[in-house]
Amino acid sequence: MHIALLKETRPGESRVALVPESCKKLIQAGYTISIEKGAGEASFYLDEEYRKVDCTVENDPATLIKSADLILKVNPPTLDSENRNEIAWMKPGTVLLASLMPLRHLNVVQLLATHKITAFSTDAIPRTTRAQSMDTLSSMANIVGYKGVLIAASELSKYFPMFMTAAGTVFPAKVFVIGAAVAGLQAIATARRLGANVTATDVRPEVKEQIESLGAKYVGIELLKESAVAGGGYAKELSQEDKLRQHELLASHCATVDIVITTALIGGVFAPKLITSEIVNKMRPGSVIVDLGADGGGNCELSKLGERITTQNGVKIIAPLNLPSTMPMHASLLFSRNLTAFIQTFTKDKKFQLDLTDDIQKGSIITHNGEVLNARTKEALKSGGSK
Ligand code: NAI
Repeated sequence: MHIALLKETRPGESRVALVPESCKKLIQAGYTISIEKGAGEASFYLDEEYRKVDCTVENDPATLIKSADLILKVNPPTLDSENRNEIAWMKPGTVLLASLMPLRHLNVVQLLATHKITAFSTDAIPRTTRAQSMDTLSSMANIVGYKGVLIAASELSKYFPMFMTAAGTVFPAKVFVIGAAVAGLQAIATARRLGANVTATDVRPEVKEQIESLGAKYVGIELLKESAVAGGGYAKELSQEDKLRQHELLASHCATVDIVITTALIGGVFAPKLITSEIVNKMRPGSVIVDLGADGGGNCELSKLGERITTQNGVKIIAPLNLPSTMPMHASLLFSRNLTAFIQTFTKDKKFQLDLTDDIQKGSIITHNGEVLNARTKEALKSGGSK
């Protein structure tokens, strides 16, 4: 079975879906692999290293895609250029494995179905113990949380740790993390390592203990009406009443901290607007907001996605997009290991075996045989793309 590794074309993207270490494993498992020339260059994995582990290097992406049974990518297929329409080059029945973020790319999903591509989205892999080694969302969210704190530290006009100097003592920076799943917990851990005083909040009650185990203090509201937990451990939107109560808490707490790091997502996809302009206006000059919900639309009303602004009252708001791409070597390595674990799990007789009775495949398949199989995506397509 022939695997094609494509070069990413999304602007600003530096990752690659498969690194040489993983190619070696998959070739040992019975696959042949061709990579697009320069596929790993931006993440410092050179064509020469792929050749050394017996991959071939192909210049022409169309030839490469047409020859493939299994295509590996980080981002959804490229369609936006006259010279490159990756889906049109795929033969029907080709298996595509990538982080498709289907709810954010409904047009791509529709085309994959029309072209009869069997597409799996790594971000739809169930968050179960068995699937942990395949979980690209967690691998990338860890980087987002880590890098978000480093950005905050470099933008803050203060030290993070407490220092006792000859000129007297300076007190540690106060960091507030909103949303404490993978990215948020990594942000807490990183801020703690740098010596900050950390508080954190979430709407899922079970994370209080996880926040405290990392040495941070939990602040939060008791939900009045119903649980905020939806299927798969993802959060759902709060009731109107709870939203107001949370708003009050955020307004009073944000005014007391130096840094706010937001990581909140609804259903793992869309970022609720939690930090209103009113909250920002009450924050102290020199304080910093790093909006890590930017890829999902942003958690702060004033965020300019992909930009860094300073408000009139002196608050810096940074809303970075695609942070994993700023650490491409490790981001690619971990992404690649996740894809390899997925492929290896379903390899039998040297071939990738389709088995839609398996919970991992069933959860992550988006299109097959001309149909959209993912329920949430199907629903979104029916309702014309709204949530
Ligand atoms: P996510 O990126 O979808 O969400 C981020 C966080 O934002 C969540 O903790 C959510 O509760 C929180 N949030 C949403 N609305 C909020 C609000 N109004 N205020 C404050 N916080 C708010 O989360 P991620 O990292 O994708 O994890 C999703 C679920 O999957 C979690 O339950 C996590 O524990 C679970 N998980 C399980 C794994 C496994 O068992 N293999 C691996 C990784 C995650």
